[in-house]
Amino acid sequence: MIRKAVIPAAGLGTRLLPATKVIPKEMVPIVDKPTIQYIVEEAVASGIEEIIIVTSRSKRAIEDHFDASVELEDVLERKGSLAQLDQIRSISRMAHFHYVRQARPLGLGHAVLCARRLVGDEPFAVLLGDDVFVGKTPCLQQLIQVHEETGRSVVAVQEVEETEVSRYGVIRPLPIRERLWDVESLVEKPQVAEAPSNLAVAGRYVLTPDVFDILECVGPGRGGEIQLTDALSLLCQRSGLVALEFEGKRYDVGDKRGYVRATLEFALQDEVVRSDIFAFLERYYAREGTA
Ligand code: UTP
Repeated sequence: MIRKAVIPAAGLGTRLLPATKVIPKEMVPIVDKPTIQYIVEEAVASGIEEIIIVTSRSKRAIEDHFDASVELEDVLERKGSLAQLDQIRSISRMAHFHYVRQARPLGLGHAVLCARRLVGDEPFAVLLGDDVFVGKTPCLQQLIQVHEETGRSVVAVQEVEETEVSRYGVIRPLPIRERLWDVESLVEKPQVAEAPSNLAVAGRYVLTPDVFDILECVGPGRGGEIQLTDALSLLCQRSGLVALEFEGKRYDVGDKRGYVRATLEFALQDEVVRSDIFAFLERYYAREGTA
């Protein structure tokens, strides 16, 4: 059973500057909810009870968001805004939250290693705050099912355009069955000509705890950072790694285009906002044309 999830949230978020100069990238809202709340909701919907967030000095707002907000709750109670009160209270009650600091942004692999003591010796999930998933079954739940079936570490993958491979970790796959691969190795952000496939790692993982010993040993890789991809490549040769092509949509909200697309996706899920946006776009195109 997977009970614990690590959410690395100590990166600098330079692709969303200047929004992320003061506000943590994970707190940038998609419509009316901070990105990290969508991530926590996915984890909880997948059966996770303990959430371990890897933060840094400039990310205190994350901790505050998942804490009770006594003054706000008092005001909402006095005003009789009970629906809002419920909504606010439920945020801190979703799961048990734990925090660990990453003193320097030494890479995603290093951030995961920072959670070692809190995770202990059990398989655990990793969810990156950059990737938001939409679909019938939460992406993490799909991975957990595969882990329960195989007992091995699992990564989520998706097919990307050949020209896009240099933005991702890419797997060398050996087919097991439809949508499921045995991973022979991984390469972080390969050139198109060197990419072993067009199956890119998306930001959801279920990892066996032996990954921590590997992370202790891998030195800095691409960009001078301790890369999770390098550790996973070694894991393939030890306890093994499988890749699942998940069902659903993924938005890279750490990137401006992905962020706007995700905002539209969630806005359009709200009936009232939806009809308003369509009417707005109709007027917009009538005025500006489509060129
Ligand atoms: P990214 O490289 O996408 O995040 O790392 P970033 O560095 O914040 O973003 P840009 O590229 O500068 O815009 C993927 C995930 O790993 C976390 C990030 O917070 C993000 O969720 N991370 C990355 C850490 O926690 N620590 C690190 O040292 C690096």
